[in-house]
Amino acid sequence: MHISWLDHQDAPISTDDLAAVGVYHERLEVGAEDPQPALDRIKRDRGYVTQDIIELRPDTPNLAAIGDRFAGEHLHTDDEVRYVLEGAGIFDIRSADDRWIRVEVAAGDLLIVPAHLHHRFFLTERQQIRCVRLFKDSAGWTPVYRQSAPADAAQ
Ligand code: LAC
Ligand code: NI
Repeated sequence: MHISWLDHQDAPISTDDLAAVGVYHERLEVGAEDPQPALDRIKRDRGYVTQDIIELRPDTPNLAAIGDRFAGEHLHTDDEVRYVLEGAGIFDIRSADDRWIRVEVAAGDLLIVPAHLHHRFFLTERQQIRCVRLFKDSAGWTPVYRQSAPADAAQ
């Protein structure tokens, strides 16, 4: 994982800035092993009950439309839990003072964006990510888009 302030790439930042808005990150160093025991521990400790796998790749049908949906600032009523199996992705997450914290994730990263925290997501140039998603209630998984946001530079 790599984190930075989107509006000030060189300013100091730490995982405390993520923790301040309730974002949880952990490296699950499972290597070639089955990640399921580590994911089961997260599920048990944090109350997730279902899981699935999501994969985006250059040949995914409607990739551009899916990307546009994820790129709009939104929140969920359930936590957004992603364990990256392969590839990479970029989450922008609202800080305590409503700036963007850019979080770049890669294989081995577990990231939890808590319910009701605004965020958005982009693929990297390589356009590929495969993640395990964990849910407390898969029925709650509908994005709620933000109506008005502070001005920001998209990239
Ligand atoms: C989602 C992420 C990508 O809502 O924010 O699935
Ligand atoms: Ni989301």
